[in-house]
Amino acid sequence: MKIAISSDHRGYQAKQRIIKMLQNDENEVDDCGCDSAESCDYPDMAKIAAGRVSKHESDRAILICGTGLGMSIAANKLRGVRAALCHDELTAQFSRKHNNANVLCLPADLISDQLMSSIVNSWLHTKFEGGRHARRIGKIEAIEKEACGDA
Ligand code: RB5
Repeated sequence: MKIAISSDHRGYQAKQRIIKMLQNDENEVDDCGCDSAESCDYPDMAKIAAGRVSKHESDRAILICGTGLGMSIAANKLRGVRAALCHDELTAQFSRKHNNANVLCLPADLISDQLMSSIVNSWLHTKFEGGRHARRIGKIEAIEKEACGDA
């Protein structure tokens, strides 16, 4: 799978660890920064990696900041992005099964390294269920179109 990943300074260490994990699992990883633990702004970093998904240059994206909140708010402004902030394996699984989330946002300050790895694994390996959930995704897309117009 082609996966774009970005973080702000709070998520930098976790990003480096998750990149290794994704590469060991034979994914193609696009590291969109940041490149150090120096302070930077999460909207800039969310725009780059989630933008890859929005522009169909990447299958999925993973965004990491302190709480995951800023990343998810920013990423969901992009067309076609369904970003889910997940704190446990169950929300990660349901974000895929029911919401077809294409961007995963993670809170580096709030969960352990081990839990973060489990969330990423669950999220990558859970499939969208389609059916009634596809109809609901269609309604989300209609809201986006009404609010933002055609691309
Ligand atoms: C940065 O201090 C912090 O605000 C950011 O990592 C994130 O938690 C924002 O939602």
